[in-house]
Amino acid sequence: MNKLDYLRENLEMCDEIILDALTMRYRMIEDITAYKRKKDLPIVQPEEEEKKRRLLLSRMTDHRHTDNVMDVFDSIILNSKKIQSQQIFDYNIVLIGFMGSGKSTISRALSKVFAMDVIEMDQVIADREGMSISEIFEVHGEEYFRNLETELLREMQNRKGVVISCGGGVPMRDENVVEMKKNGKVILLTAAPETILERVRNNHDRPLLENNKNVDFISELMEKRRSKYEAAADIIIQTDGKSEFEICEEIISHAKKQ
Ligand code: S3P
Repeated sequence: MNKLDYLRENLEMCDEIILDALTMRYRMIEDITAYKRKKDLPIVQPEEEEKKRRLLLSRMTDHRHTDNVMDVFDSIILNSKKIQSQQIFDYNIVLIGFMGSGKSTISRALSKVFAMDVIEMDQVIADREGMSISEIFEVHGEEYFRNLETELLREMQNRKGVVISCGGGVPMRDENVVEMKKNGKVILLTAAPETILERVRNNHDRPLLENNKNVDFISELMEKRRSKYEAAADIIIQTDGKSEFEICEEIISHAKKQ
């Protein structure tokens, strides 16, 4: 056998080892997730990830390829998260709630913890229209914006296992709620008007609140919307005083019961 053939054969052996190790790893991930769910243990343990990175770095003997190796591990971990989320959520997570109730924050947290894709409806609409939400309201009017929301929600029904962060007004249309429920669990995030005010105070892309940043206005609009929000929701989560991870765990704990 010439040298090149010999080296290639060894490389093939390496790949087989990696393949077997990955197959075993992803099976372990499924077993760990199943065990945690059975025993009601927290699924979200962000500190574990950092611990693992440190351990891997300390185990590395050949430091010429540290960055490449860690890059591969990041990808392995990302895919482990995907496997975990597919195991827990075989539907879309649709987050609804008043402006400032935490939909975008929780979407980002879910995407970090589970590597789930996030559809931030306002962002997608603004990108497609090439203007901010405030500009869309100003140039085309609210009805035009609401129609774009309905269209986008319809489109999203082709996706699975994604987090859809709805604009605050989306559940006001019954047809939107029908769309959400087709393959999604609808989670309503709530917060006290005072908390909402604090969260939206420095934002200037919410045309409905721009000149109405006070508790009275927020309470009144919330009250007007409450029955539609609650009717749309499969799960209601109150967010005041809770961390992102606590809210993610609550979402997961409801998923367990399905
Ligand atoms: C709206 C909420 C906003 C945005 C638009 C209208 C509403 O989204 O869609 O300003 O009617 O409640 P957020 O809830 O993400 O702020």
